[in-house]
Amino acid sequence: MQNPDLTEQFLDDVKKFTDFGTTTRLWNDDGIPYMANEFWTSSQRKSHPLHEISYRACFKAQLPGFFIDRLTKIGDGVLDPFMGRGTTPLQAALSGRMPIGNDINPLSAILLEPRLNPPSLNQIGQRLQEIPIEKGIIERDDLSVFFGKQTLRDIHGLRSWLLQREASGSIDIVDKWIRMVAINRLTGHSIGYLSGRTLPPNQAVSIRSQAKINIRNNIQEQPEKNVRSVILKKSQSLLKQGNPLLHPPAILSTGLARNIHILPDSSVTLVVTSPPFLDIVDYAGDNWLRCWFAGIDISNVSIDIHKGIQAWKIMVKEVLIEMARVLVPGGHIAFEVGEVRKGTIMLEKLVWEAACGLPYEKLAIIINEQNFTKTANMWGVDNNSKGTNTNRIVLLRRV
Ligand SMILES: C[S@@+](CC[C@H](N)C(=O)[O-])C[C@H]1O[C@@H](n2cnc3c(N)ncnc32)[C@H](O)[C@@H]1O
Repeated sequence: MQNPDLTEQFLDDVKKFTDFGTTTRLWNDDGIPYMANEFWTSSQRKSHPLHEISYRACFKAQLPGFFIDRLTKIGDGVLDPFMGRGTTPLQAALSGRMPIGNDINPLSAILLEPRLNPPSLNQIGQRLQEIPIEKGIIERDDLSVFFGKQTLRDIHGLRSWLLQREASGSIDIVDKWIRMVAINRLTGHSIGYLSGRTLPPNQAVSIRSQAKINIRNNIQEQPEKNVRSVILKKSQSLLKQGNPLLHPPAILSTGLARNIHILPDSSVTLVVTSPPFLDIVDYAGDNWLRCWFAGIDISNVSIDIHKGIQAWKIMVKEVLIEMARVLVPGGHIAFEVGEVRKGTIMLEKLVWEAACGLPYEKLAIIINEQNFTKTANMWGVDNNSKGTNTNRIVLLRRV
């Protein structure tokens, strides 16, 4: 049982929060207590570089950090049942908590696992030299819309070597690290990526769209990149602040958030999560190239996309029921939703309603008012008009 005083202390801290110069606004809407302020911000100390793996609709590490620091202690289990790139479990590990993560897409565990216990740069450099990437045979010539011919050959070489290591059971943490970095570097719009100029790294466009982009920009052939140096350089950057703290072994699973069967009852102290927001993001489409590289058949992954509000609310309720099973009494859920459809649908209220009749005390909706990032503006999300621009977090306590 977690100490109830901790909840009181937390809510008191939130109400009195002035770290970034503004005071918390409190109001009540339909009986729901709201608390809004800038609780975390881009001007805050940067998050650990190990977080710097792009993923569509990921949240900033400061978000789970805010709750982990205040609502858990060293060694406690911290779960995200929709972990994406694994921001919550990684932040938990960096704070000495037990990282626990789940996602329907096997890509998530592939992106997270090696960052929880990274190998050394020496090991990575040495392994990169050992892998015979130049022996690659191009099976997907259509991918040359993204990559130079030689680069494409090397990507195939690396991919088939990794898939063989996986199939034979000899894949180790160094291979997994290299796979994670390669996946992250596949497409992007700057020099440090394996592709030529494309859309942002977390949003691979289709081959047809890339072909059109190439015609528009008069690109006949994409530039060649050195696969080994691109991977090594990104590894240096990810590892520049060293490894996570010692933390209890991670529990990672792949499956539905509403049934994380490998997790025992009452094994989690805090859940920090954000589910898919209706049909706003096409996770399968955005990750198709990454999944190809990892040998994942994305058409077999049943990623939730909900057009209707009722179906979304049922999904949330089912997940909250599962969270009630795995949480310790007194444990908390911080359930984040973005602003969608120009603020006409208040997803946070749907989460609040979905928690009715379940064994939770509904504490508050906490809103982080944040400045928009450059990337978000650049890719067409206007502040206060569309897209997801504030973090709205429903805070629940397991009774
Ligand atoms: C908003 S993203 C989470 C991003 C995450 N907070 C991060 O920082 O990277 C939602 C995630 O839910 C996953 N997902 C969709 N349907 C799911 C389901 N039924 N069960 C588990 N995960 C699911 C998607 O694959 C996606 O990674």
